[in-house]
Amino acid sequence: MSEMERTRRSKRRVVGGLTATIGGLVLLVSVLKAPVGNTAEIPSDQVERGLAISPVPVDLTGKDRDLVGLGSYIVNAHGACNDCHTNPSFAEGHDPFLGQPEQINRFGYLAGGVPFGPFVSRNLTPNAQGKPAGLTLDQFLETIHTGKDQKNRHPQISPLLQVMPWPVYGKMSDRDLGAVYEYLRSIPSHRFSLGVPGVPGSQLTLTQGNPPTLTFSLPGVNRDGETNVPSLKGVGLILKAQVVGSQIELVTEAGRFVSRDGFIYQKAAP
Ligand code: HEC
Repeated sequence: MSEMERTRRSKRRVVGGLTATIGGLVLLVSVLKAPVGNTAEIPSDQVERGLAISPVPVDLTGKDRDLVGLGSYIVNAHGACNDCHTNPSFAEGHDPFLGQPEQINRFGYLAGGVPFGPFVSRNLTPNAQGKPAGLTLDQFLETIHTGKDQKNRHPQISPLLQVMPWPVYGKMSDRDLGAVYEYLRSIPSHRFSLGVPGVPGSQLTLTQGNPPTLTFSLPGVNRDGETNVPSLKGVGLILKAQVVGSQIELVTEAGRFVSRDGFIYQKAAP
């Protein structure tokens, strides 16, 4: 073996050893970096696309941006959650199925209320504690993996969710389902709390849906909407509550009332 050949060989050995060491280090670093149960890197193109296509603004405070982006990608580009959980799915005049320029109904986005026979899709937006559909992450994972209805809404029919394609979604990894949960945590809540001017401690909560549900904690107002609060006197029964643009409209025996600046009950022009 010539001098040159020997040098070349030992160089090759050093390079080979180095490559193996670097390979080992890379493996070690990626194992250390990966959260439990998560072996794959989150693809940044999906994160960015997910953030770009969310039909509603996301609140990233205290959230993991990558997970929110991936979650939006799964919800809005794969999962079709909007098809069943937004009522109606598209803004007026913006239904792509009618050849109109698409615009998702941002105001009712994932707020549920779509009837399927005896079943009604649920409000997936965060509750007052920031929990999507009022579920913890563990409950959410269990729901999607097993179909268990944590609210047991129709025990006479089944303890399991019907219509909802959990047998399909349940095959996602916990990392991906966790991303869906993180996205749902970041979207606007569709439970409205309004105060009534001049009535201390008053609170009126409207949960979007079809029909919307209205709950009162208003001194002097009962659950049927009858009132003896002076500023509400004469309102009578609330016949219908609906969201119009960014306002809440109440149709009562006494006429039409809309919310303004977070307060409700200013009589609107008939
Ligand atoms: C084919 C229609 C359909 C699609 C698509 C759909 N859902 Fe549902 N979902 C429903 C219905 C209906 C219910 C309520 C079922 C019942 O009451 O048995 C429900 C219930 C749920 C619940 C239970 C909530 C609770 O209050 O406990 C969760 C969570 C949920 N869906 C999440 C999702 C997510 C996330 C997606 C998209 C990845 C999605 N759904 C897509 C129809 C659908």
